[in-house]
Amino acid sequence: MTLQLREIQLTPGDATSEAWLEVHHAANRAVWGAGAQRATVEEIVDLSGRRQDVRRTFGVWVDGVEEPVAAAQTIRNTRENTETGGIWLSVHPDHQRKGHGRRLLAHCEQVLRDEGCTRVHEHSGAPVEHGDAATEFALASGYRQTLVDLRQDLGLPVDAAALAESAPALDAEEYVVETSVDGLPEEWLEDRALLARRMSTDAPTGDIDLAEEDWDADRVRQQWNTPSPIWAVESVARHVPSGRLVAFTDLVVRPGQTDLALQGDTLVLREHRGRALGLAVKVANLAALQREKPGVATVRTWNADTNTHMIAINARMGFTVTGWTREWAKDL
Ligand SMILES: CC(C)(COP(=O)(O)OP(=O)(O)OC[C@H]1O[C@@H](n2cnc3c(N)ncnc32)[C@H](O)[C@@H]1OP(=O)(O)O)[C@@H](O)C(=O)NCCC(=O)NCCS
Repeated sequence: MTLQLREIQLTPGDATSEAWLEVHHAANRAVWGAGAQRATVEEIVDLSGRRQDVRRTFGVWVDGVEEPVAAAQTIRNTRENTETGGIWLSVHPDHQRKGHGRRLLAHCEQVLRDEGCTRVHEHSGAPVEHGDAATEFALASGYRQTLVDLRQDLGLPVDAAALAESAPALDAEEYVVETSVDGLPEEWLEDRALLARRMSTDAPTGDIDLAEEDWDADRVRQQWNTPSPIWAVESVARHVPSGRLVAFTDLVVRPGQTDLALQGDTLVLREHRGRALGLAVKVANLAALQREKPGVATVRTWNADTNTHMIAINARMGFTVTGWTREWAKDL
């Protein structure tokens, strides 16, 4: 069997790029079934640009098979944690357990090493808590587990009256909730940058040291206020006496899977915790999602299994556990 490992330029509309993405989709379907997450080439390229990361895309072809049998991308941050790379790797289910994963992973690790990375930090997921292929593969490849996240799903629509009832009563002289659809008001951006900075250090990262992310208004603008195929809704809590934003949460809907909303970050500034602001922004955001995107049937979120506060908020909103995501690290 002759193997060919090639780098490709991921390009929307290009047949090779679509075949490459289909490897990830087929591997995902084998793990998660028909409801497996999908992406589009367009959104991967778009996201990479807005996140200012550097990605290289690789595929493995074998004799006699037209489509690639394995697909991977190396992901390098350019703003912070530049020595920590990511690897997104899948092997088509018809070609697993033949060593393609191992070889492609070794190649991607070498690419990252050559680009100055000293470690890899990535995640894998499965609908079962133990014994899935990705966990065995990561352990066999020298990765150590740094964190376990619970994947939680909520079926929509949620009864609007029940949702309104679950919103905590806030003292309107202290806090108000504001919501913005598909882009953030300019006036939010400075505060939102501080919230993003705190998010990068306050959310549990598990057994790995990561540097604070370097957010300013410009970076928030680039991430959230440039034209994108990804739709977003965000709710914030404003502290009325100071006028500052002190909590936020966002949800996105991606073009390849418009019936699924993914929960992004949620944070309440330390000084304002314990006042139900996390629940308040999440309930407001969910109500806005239902209003704006009635076609969404599921909201999906991930939280560290140790993040009992966030998981309690989710359970109260009706989320149930549908999978386990493991985060992995390896020194190169
Ligand atoms: C995880 C995955 C990439 C492995 O690819 P693969 O080509 O089948 O893996 P390899 O053949 O190179 O296996 C290397 C080693 O990993 C371990 N391994 C891989 N799959 C395994 C499985 N299903 N059960 C137990 N061990 C497994 C074994 O130790 C194996 O060595 P061995 O075959 O000599 O025993 C593949 O199952 C996949 O694409 N899964 C879905 C996507 C995913 O989870 N990607 C990883 C996260 S980004």
